Amino acid sequence: MFDRLTQQPADKILALMQQFREDPRDNKVDLGVGVYRNAQGVTPVMRAVKAAEQRIWEAQETKAYTGLAGDPAYSDAMIALVLGDAVARDKVAAVATPGGTGAVRQAFELIQMANPQARVFVSNPTWPNHLSILRHLGIEMVPYRYFDDDSRAVDVNGMLEDLAQAGPGDVVLLHGCCHNPTGANLNAADWRAVIALLNKTGAMPMIDIAYQGFGDGLEEDAAATRAVASGVPECLIAASCSKNFGIYRERTGLLMGISQDSSARGLTQSTLAHLNRQNFSFPPDHGARIVSTILTNEALRADWAAELEEMRLGMLDLRQQLADDLQQRSGSDRFGFLAQHRGMFSRLGATPAQVEAMRADHGIYMVGDSRLNIAGLNAQSVPVLAGAIVAAGV
Ligand code: LMR
Repeated sequence: MFDRLTQQPADKILALMQQFREDPRDNKVDLGVGVYRNAQGVTPVMRAVKAAEQRIWEAQETKAYTGLAGDPAYSDAMIALVLGDAVARDKVAAVATPGGTGAVRQAFELIQMANPQARVFVSNPTWPNHLSILRHLGIEMVPYRYFDDDSRAVDVNGMLEDLAQAGPGDVVLLHGCCHNPTGANLNAADWRAVIALLNKTGAMPMIDIAYQGFGDGLEEDAAATRAVASGVPECLIAASCSKNFGIYRERTGLLMGISQDSSARGLTQSTLAHLNRQNFSFPPDHGARIVSTILTNEALRADWAAELEEMRLGMLDLRQQLADDLQQRSGSDRFGFLAQHRGMFSRLGATPAQVEAMRADHGIYMVGDSRLNIAGLNAQSVPVLAGAIVAAGV
């Protein structure tokens, strides 16, 4: 049986992680996988997470199953974090999932169940695993223009022109904030134009929000998702707690389905629970419980938000340091976009050969499309990277 299998394409982010591990150089710099690192190069367990884990350990008396949708306290806390009061709670169906990727996968499966002919419009570029999962499920993808290679900003006109081709029964996949892999984001007016277009074409939005709190702030980063969710009849939202709670390995995500009205919600909720049962049965609980413990306790929540804000400001500072250093070395402002981008990533705009030269000559690892993980930098590695970028002729 197994000899009938064919080799699957390697995930380029995970392949790069492996290549980095195998590099014996001491001074190598990992700007590949999207994991936050502090100035010491450590991905810390956040203070509030430690405290919540202790409370859970002390109070928890059973490890019996939760419901198929996960613990309702987690869904409620996450719905409030992502949506605020933008949408009536009784319109929101939600299930806990194994990470944001689990939410993305369940969302795509729900779309396929509802409309086997659905096309999913994806930004060019998008997170490679979006494409990989869509391909795996046999769902048709339609790329829409997103990143302008010259300005390193969003090609809003191109995007709107391409999204005008979507119709009822189609889905438009959007990044709620901190676009991965480019770091280039829509502004509020652009989002309004996207919402108006969605209403005109009848296509349904699906938002992937994996970096809330990493861009302009917790509330600011949710603004676009809230505007979309309250501005269209139906939408799907896949949220991840991996990054903003730093609980990557706990696999903590939430899929939300917003229905036209509360009576339609029941069917969405039961279908989402059914999908959980088919794919993994009950969702993981430990990370979800950490999140709900933090979000429902005033002191823990304040401490978590403060630490997250420190991380965000640290990344902004690194962006500015890199842009300034490059400005000095290159004598031009062409790298100013690095300070304008938001979130963990920026697409540098280097060619694959330049990316390879930076890896071979300087031990700098970034994804082949020249996506940099800004949170992988520190004060020592910024000048090393800036020197490598200029030496590679980017
Ligand atoms: C990334 O884009 O690097 C992260 O979302 C991690 C992953 O699973 O790819």
